[in-house]
Amino acid sequence: MGFSIHWSWLAALSCLLCMGNEVRCDCTEERMEIVGGDYILTKQLKIGSMLVYQCPEGYYPYPHLTRICELNSIWKPAPKRFFPQRCKRVECPDPNVMEYGNIFPPQEKYFVDNETTYECYSGYRLRGSSRRVCLSNGKWSGFTPICSRDTGDSCADPGIPPGATRDGNAFGIDDKVTYSCNGELFLVGSSERVCQENGHWTGKEPACFYKHTYDTPLEVSQEFGSAIKGSLTTLEPIDDTQEGRKIRISKNGTLNIYIAMDISASIEEKDFNKARNAVTKLIEKIASFTVTPNYEIVFFSSEVYEVVSILDFLDKQITLKAILTELGNFKIGERNTGTDLNGVFTRFLERMAIIKQQVGEERFKEHRHVLIFFTDGAYNMGGSPAPTVEQIKNMVYMNQTGSQSYQSREEYLDIYIFAIGAEVFDSDLQPLATGPTSERHYFKMKDIDNLQETFDEIIDEEEVKGLCGLHKDYESIHKGNKRQMHPWWASITIKNQGLPRDCLGSLVTPKFVLTAAHCFTFEDLPEHVKVVIDDGQGKEKKIKSFKLHPEYNINAKVNKGVKEFYDYDVALIQLEEDVNISSAARPICIPCTQETSDALKLVGESTCKQQEEILLKNHLESLSFLNKKQGTTVVVKNVTAKMGDIRDDCIKHALGAPGISTKDPKEVVTDNFLCTGGQTPIRDDMSCKGDSGGAVFKNYEHRTIQVALVSWGTTDLCGLGGGDLHTRQTARDFHINLFRVVPFLKSILGNDTLDYAPLTFLKS
Ligand SMILES: *[C@@H]1O[C@H](CO)[C@@H](O)[C@H](O)[C@H]1NC(C)=O
Ligand SMILES: *[C@@H]1O[C@H](CO)[C@@H](O)[C@H](O)[C@H]1NC(C)=O
Ligand SMILES: *[C@@H]1O[C@H](CO)[C@@H](O)[C@H](O)[C@H]1NC(C)=O
Ligand SMILES: *[C@@H]1O[C@H](CO)[C@@H](O)[C@H](O)[C@H]1NC(C)=O
Ligand SMILES: *[C@@H]1O[C@H](CO)[C@@H](O)[C@H](O)[C@H]1NC(C)=O
Ligand SMILES: *[C@@H]1O[C@H](CO)[C@@H](O)[C@H](O)[C@H]1NC(C)=O
Repeated sequence: MGFSIHWSWLAALSCLLCMGNEVRCDCTEERMEIVGGDYILTKQLKIGSMLVYQCPEGYYPYPHLTRICELNSIWKPAPKRFFPQRCKRVECPDPNVMEYGNIFPPQEKYFVDNETTYECYSGYRLRGSSRRVCLSNGKWSGFTPICSRDTGDSCADPGIPPGATRDGNAFGIDDKVTYSCNGELFLVGSSERVCQENGHWTGKEPACFYKHTYDTPLEVSQEFGSAIKGSLTTLEPIDDTQEGRKIRISKNGTLNIYIAMDISASIEEKDFNKARNAVTKLIEKIASFTVTPNYEIVFFSSEVYEVVSILDFLDKQITLKAILTELGNFKIGERNTGTDLNGVFTRFLERMAIIKQQVGEERFKEHRHVLIFFTDGAYNMGGSPAPTVEQIKNMVYMNQTGSQSYQSREEYLDIYIFAIGAEVFDSDLQPLATGPTSERHYFKMKDIDNLQETFDEIIDEEEVKGLCGLHKDYESIHKGNKRQMHPWWASITIKNQGLPRDCLGSLVTPKFVLTAAHCFTFEDLPEHVKVVIDDGQGKEKKIKSFKLHPEYNINAKVNKGVKEFYDYDVALIQLEEDVNISSAARPICIPCTQETSDALKLVGESTCKQQEEILLKNHLESLSFLNKKQGTTVVVKNVTAKMGDIRDDCIKHALGAPGISTKDPKEVVTDNFLCTGGQTPIRDDMSCKGDSGGAVFKNYEHRTIQVALVSWGTTDLCGLGGGDLHTRQTARDFHINLFRVVPFLKSILGNDTLDYAPLTFLKS
């Protein structure tokens, strides 16, 4: 992203001179070739252009990763005749640092695909992987093998990662071990770890990186995911009573997120768009948590281009949509190629100072700051950002840096650095990463291509297991499991007498599936019911029991001219075992629960009514349901619920359904139903037979909330090639409005006296 020192302002001058003397300014491609690889030029052969070598997977350019066309039209570093540039096999750090055991095969160097096995001396026990393979990113698969025996120490032997040296061999309370990396390797992670009273080491196992080592998208999303989620979830209210000690994390806190994206090398529009998309994705992901952070978003090269200012958040609420619109509309004209990383840190420091001034010292204490940088660290202007980082620490740590007590403020500041670029200046960048030592703050990525995907993966972690309705977008699962878009859907088949009956259902807790009562008959028993949730591990779920709504009675109005009456058409199926929650299997949010209030970002004590006003507010409310296709796929169907004074006009078409002889639509369609269908003003999709019991839902940012379930319809348009125009205009579907059956849902799902985890229903 940056180039060599100070070339940018001299470049213009020297080119003028060149033209005057009719001397060519350009570098040449002579002796630039690389054995076994290729190269690209960022600005052809012009001064300031960067030549970036490229090698196949498992190889890296050697001895140099890049060259710069200097002012004097000479490449720097210059190619050497007797030391040709080539693609070298990726090497992994030396595993022969393990103590008390043997490594096979013993080699001087280990390359991609080389396999190693580990064995401990007798009397020692192996922890970690007994077999490891050198991977193409320069890391070993699995975990560091450690041979240890029980010495009665408080902490377990922390081992020695490949390529490292450890100082410290005592593992009692307060004992310290320090790590360094051998040769040309550099250390990423905790260089120092202390044995704590609880028997755990502080920090995380460090790793030794070569210049060619990088993190995979999966590693980044796991590690960064767990770290950022720490920041995002500490602001959620938690009442955690442990050993009589009540930990109450204040919900008063404010989260400030500062994002800076280096675009100095993003000469091509597509790179800029990738950077922008990645930032967009990150913000969207953060929005799926219940916190609402303030944002400062900048792109930078020699200048700082502000997209969203954090100061705008101080006095007014800015919606996520507005932030994303700003980001989407942001354009950059002529860009300078210099890089002023310190300028960005300085900007952020200034912003913090203004916030502090505006909110006052006391409230500033409650502000957390998360700084996220994407850069290669090749700054060539503005000097080193290190002193500015110190000032930022001082401000957030309340001048307690250096003293013991600053640790109590450590969690208020995170500086994450994503090192991305053809040539990364690790030694300049790494020290800038800051935060609690238990988490990694420095990441090294091969390129910007996978960044968006990486951030999309972030939601898969343990910590978000509890979040109902979380799902992925279509764009983000192009290769993945399509279930991730609707991880809550269940397929239900009842095989008793006659033909099997198919229905849909929705997972509403790890143990319960919500569906329609009419899927069952009075003769059905749990063993007749098959529930399939294709979560990739034992699709078919065993059923413990099912319960229909006590007021459901299909024959209740036979005498009143309603042959089949579907009021209270809901049922809950209890599974024998909890479904394993993952990105492919996760409950949907249902009305009147605290979880749904969180998903809707309702703060304080919220009510059912507030939720209903958000979810079913419109005259025409856009909703979706799923239509089951062959096998294990579903497609989304869109409808508009007719609410308010257009509802009567919608439900009157119920009288056209077979088996209805009453003249009063309200006898057939009670207030417990939503009405959809017809062609005006919007053409609604119609449900088919097997769709009964499925969720009628609304996506709210990254969360899905079920508002109703598919019950019955006037007309089956599925087999008829869609039916004629009149039929389509008068066809209607009716869905049980879940807001009207909350007491039933609560009696089962909210019951905290039974052997499953209850949902928290709102008081009113
Ligand atoms: C390790 O990798 C190198 C380079 O690919 C290869 O030449 C060597 O045979 C491998 N060693 C083993 C034991 O597989
Ligand atoms: C939250 O902030 C208010 C006003 O700033 C203060 O009165 C209250 O004590 C704070 N609550 C907590 C839990 O810190
Ligand atoms: C921190 O130190 C600076 C300069 O020494 C001073 O201006 C500032 O008021 C101090 N802040 C706090 C919170 O003590
Ligand atoms: C859940 O996952 C665990 C571990 O992966 C596995 O042992 C268990 O059988 C799974 N349970 C279900 C219901 O799939
Ligand atoms: C259904 O609605 C969603 C959200 O409003 C929209 O993104 C999608 O394109 C619609 N699908 C169809 C088939 O119209
Ligand atoms: C919880 O379930 C038990 C057993 O089914 C029942 O007796 C009790 O009334 C239920 N509690 C609530 C609050 O519904």
